[in-house]
Amino acid sequence: MQSQLSVKHLLGIKELRKEDIQLIFETADQFKQVLNRPIKKVPSLRDITIANVFFENSTRTRLSFELAEKRLSADVVNFSSSSSSVKKGETLLDTVNNILAMKVDMVVLRHSSVGAPHFLARHVDANIINAGDGTHEHPTQALLDAFSIREKLGEVAGKKVCIFGDILHSRVALSNIFALQKLGAEVMVCGPNTLIPKYLGELGVKIEYDLKKALQWCDVANVLRIQLERQTIKYFPSLREYSLYYGINKELLDSLNKEIVIMHPGPINRGVELSSDVADSHHSIILDQVENGVAVRMAVLYLLAGKQGQ
Ligand code: CP
Repeated sequence: MQSQLSVKHLLGIKELRKEDIQLIFETADQFKQVLNRPIKKVPSLRDITIANVFFENSTRTRLSFELAEKRLSADVVNFSSSSSSVKKGETLLDTVNNILAMKVDMVVLRHSSVGAPHFLARHVDANIINAGDGTHEHPTQALLDAFSIREKLGEVAGKKVCIFGDILHSRVALSNIFALQKLGAEVMVCGPNTLIPKYLGELGVKIEYDLKKALQWCDVANVLRIQLERQTIKYFPSLREYSLYYGINKELLDSLNKEIVIMHPGPINRGVELSSDVADSHHSIILDQVENGVAVRMAVLYLLAGKQGQ
């Protein structure tokens, strides 16, 4: 097995090899053991300083990265664009170059623009980690999702995973498709045809518009929220109608006569894409995903730190 990542930055799953993902998972297995000890901290990144640079709102990703960094003993600074000099007109590159001038080694970036982390990686020396770029990729979310499937079902290869909902505006969907396919899973997407990009068929993804048929097909349902904040036109008549045709509830799951695993990257819009009696049921591994996010991000940071100066 390879002992180093093939990349210096984590910009997307598309750029990773299957062996990179396997290395991240095996490293995350070890960090998960650390996180379950009374002392949840290791000195691995004691000499490293990491900036979490967030231009968009976040609960899970920002806190998960910050905890991962602290559990690895890194020094951490947090930047939020809403309370920064970006409001006075400072550019992304100037902002990051000023942060790096304070001897920062790695940048975790969330940005609403597609390609923002790729742009930074071309212009600065620090390791760049994409924490979500617009509607493009969210690689650590896909890694923690696939890691959670592996934990729950033993392996990802051969499993049937359906991603439900607003595929068009979702960075989680694209990163999941790349990760799951690299690991040998079969991938389907399901939602209203206005929210499913036509190019997905060319990626070898199955497309299904009927919720019940998709649920009958899959072993794992990864349910996404409707991203109203990214929608400039109406893609369906109302949230009530969306919920009627694409909301997953207990009655529907009970009618399947089989067990499926329910996932959601968060935040959940309860009563729209998922009912509470499904989100909080034994089918759901939603909080396991959140727990695994810390170990997976520790693995990513640790392995990328090994690529410093390359
Ligand atoms: N899953 C996810 O990215 O959640 P946040 O937007 O809260 O970080």
